[in-house]
Amino acid sequence: MTSTTISVNGRTVTADVEPRLSLADFLREREGLTGTHTACEHGVCGACTIMLDGRPARSCITLAVAAHGAEVRTVEGWGGDDVMATIREAFKRAHAVQCGYCTPGMLATAYDIVTRLPDADRDRIRLELSGNLCRCTGYIGIVDAIEMAIADVKVGS
Ligand code: FES
Ligand code: FES
Repeated sequence: MTSTTISVNGRTVTADVEPRLSLADFLREREGLTGTHTACEHGVCGACTIMLDGRPARSCITLAVAAHGAEVRTVEGWGGDDVMATIREAFKRAHAVQCGYCTPGMLATAYDIVTRLPDADRDRIRLELSGNLCRCTGYIGIVDAIEMAIADVKVGS
């Protein structure tokens, strides 16, 4: 066992974990944060994407011990964030959610796009989304939502 201390959604958590435990399993099984989804579990689909020190990361291929000292934000941890509220509203308006399995990871990547690339056009949004797979929507609604959110955040700032 190895001790790891992680800030999870603003709360400091210290735990003894197996060195091979993934951050996704740590979040889901030890912290009960099951909004972080897993699917491929080898870094391909993006379902498990969370924010690690402010950048999107795949929690299935990040070890919990590697997140020692880091700040993690999961889909449960965006309360009070105006940009995420705008993105969520845009996902609703654009019908960007069907089964919802990819959505927590999509929202993390969307947040990164909206905050880092305020001039992103549809092609750039698609490129940035290439690490997040969705089996339902055909992506058009998701790209629409991110485009809307970029515009809405600009209007609001
Ligand atoms: S579950 Fe992590 S990338 Fe697919
Ligand atoms: S909405 Fe079902 S996988 Fe994306």
